[in-house]
Amino acid sequence: MSTDHADTSASLPVVRTCQQMYQAVLAAKQAGQRVGVVMTMGALHDGHLSLVAASNKACDFTVVTIFVNPTQFAPTEDLEKYPRDLESDLEKLSTFSVDAVFAPTVEEIYPDEQATSVHPNEIAKRLEGRSRPGHFAGVTTIVLKLLNIIPADIAFFGRKDYQQYLVIKKMVEDLNLSVEVRGCPTLREPDGLAMSSRNRYLSTAERQQALSISESLTMAEELASEGAQAGNIAAQVRRHLAAAGIREIDYVAIVDAETLEDVKTIAKPTLVAIAVRVGNTRLIDNRTIQSA
Ligand code: PAF
Repeated sequence: MSTDHADTSASLPVVRTCQQMYQAVLAAKQAGQRVGVVMTMGALHDGHLSLVAASNKACDFTVVTIFVNPTQFAPTEDLEKYPRDLESDLEKLSTFSVDAVFAPTVEEIYPDEQATSVHPNEIAKRLEGRSRPGHFAGVTTIVLKLLNIIPADIAFFGRKDYQQYLVIKKMVEDLNLSVEVRGCPTLREPDGLAMSSRNRYLSTAERQQALSISESLTMAEELASEGAQAGNIAAQVRRHLAAAGIREIDYVAIVDAETLEDVKTIAKPTLVAIAVRVGNTRLIDNRTIQSA
């Protein structure tokens, strides 16, 4: 395998081309190794690292991809300012067993205008899909491309992006891909804030406001356990977010955890999903709740 080596983590093989990446995975599989992939856009935090740890536990050969995928950002979104720091990412990965870091350029992944893309399923039209049209077409297309370049046995995704996890799982089923999509728990800061690469944009005051998101999820869980209806839970969550100073609530959704369709009563496992803007930063979080 021909690789680059970053100064700070000389032992981590960084692979730049699709061909080299594919050959490395093929060789691992031919040697009988179980391959895990953790797909990221870099700016790694402990949430990503927990996925790497899960892959280390379940697989013999772990690939981490670092690629800020332009096609999943709308023109108005933060593609340009999205944090990129490969050296620091490699440093963080160096304490794990990572067999390859796939960090291609945009030209390597999209050498020509991409004429073909995935048309994602119904689940993709809800929640984030409504607020970010085209986002999941970009996500599913890059994930499919990466799975073709890295034909892994297991792909690990965080449940913080719960809808993304569901959409990818469904794509894998619908397109008969032979990879297991494994959803892993959301990692939180000690005060409850869900870990996200975008948390670094928050000022101290905004970070304080952002805490109301996880507080609202705990509140929703408690209300559900007392038998509250979805409408009532959503209204109280909105009030809590607003009282914390959050002015832009994109959605507070109480939906079936499998289909993401709105529910009125909390009967089956239900997802409470929140998307808000704190200052200029869009944050999402969710929790699966049950009735009493
Ligand atoms: O969750 C992310 O970081 C991205 O959406 C993914 C899955 C790496 C695709 O670009």
